[in-house]
Amino acid sequence: MMRPKNEIPRKQARLILIRQFKGNAAPIPELNNHTIRREFSVATRFIATACESQFLQQGFQERLSHWNRQRLAPAYPGDWEERFQQDQVMLRLEHGFVEELRSRIRDRASQAPTDPDGFIQWFEALEQSGPGQHDALFPWLAEEAERDEIRWFLTQEAAGEAGFDDLVALTQVKLPDSPKLELARNYWDEMGRGNAKGMHGPMLAQLVTTLDLSPSIEATVWESLALANAMTAMATNRCYAWHSVGALGVIELTAPGRSAHTARALRRIGLTQSERRYFDLHAVLDVKHSRDWNELAIKPLVAQDPRRATAIAEGALIRLSCGERCFDRYRAHFGLG
Ligand SMILES: [Fe+2]
Ligand SMILES: [Fe+2]
Repeated sequence: MMRPKNEIPRKQARLILIRQFKGNAAPIPELNNHTIRREFSVATRFIATACESQFLQQGFQERLSHWNRQRLAPAYPGDWEERFQQDQVMLRLEHGFVEELRSRIRDRASQAPTDPDGFIQWFEALEQSGPGQHDALFPWLAEEAERDEIRWFLTQEAAGEAGFDDLVALTQVKLPDSPKLELARNYWDEMGRGNAKGMHGPMLAQLVTTLDLSPSIEATVWESLALANAMTAMATNRCYAWHSVGALGVIELTAPGRSAHTARALRRIGLTQSERRYFDLHAVLDVKHSRDWNELAIKPLVAQDPRRATAIAEGALIRLSCGERCFDRYRAHFGLG
């Protein structure tokens, strides 16, 4: 069959595009929009199963992180056309990335009960049995890690931080009243209840300054970037709104344990109470946040529509699996078993 003019061979185009995902090739002028769309569609559908994932790797996650930083920053309408072109491509890839994460946990999520009480019980059990829970990394950080090892760990965590406050704000759009109110209360706590010194984001930024850390996308392992990128994808795309409720809720559920260990590590290396406040605070406050989120956001959502249970379960498992990949990578970095 004759190939249409200007269209490059399918296999060649796919290889070029994969190289572009890794950030080491310039755009190819022969590719028109139609070809790009079709080839990206092909790439995001089955290349991941045929060979190593195109999404779970450094180059792609860095590119997604840069795009997220750019697209969420307040801007002006002047460069709209260029941004629109880029957004089309990146949204397609972002969707492929989340779908790959979903495919890895879908079976387990499908086993979650869909009645409100049964679901909450299943969800809360994730604290004990969820992917990556009670990882050996954290007792090691609390009791043995040296100052520079703790600094490296926090550099990764800080660069991979997507901003819980903004994720909550993005997720609450058009939610039913009770969940919307609960997300608003949670957001207000993130905002220090109107007191700048109590805002959680700047509190973490202060710790970064205290420890003289230099977080950057390029210096962050892909596992940590992927965690932040997955959270951002779920909060910004309305088709994953219920997933985002689950992912944010499972952070509240599981953060107290990790925060307590991290706070102990910081105390051991001599940080004062006010310097380690971010982790001390989350070790306690998130216990309440989790209880309220489950009771006032998740429960009424599932009672209204049982299908949401499965989506919330998927979001929670996506978040925990991303965390598990981080802990595996961090332990490998530190030479732990
Ligand atoms: Fe917080
Ligand atoms: Fe919280």
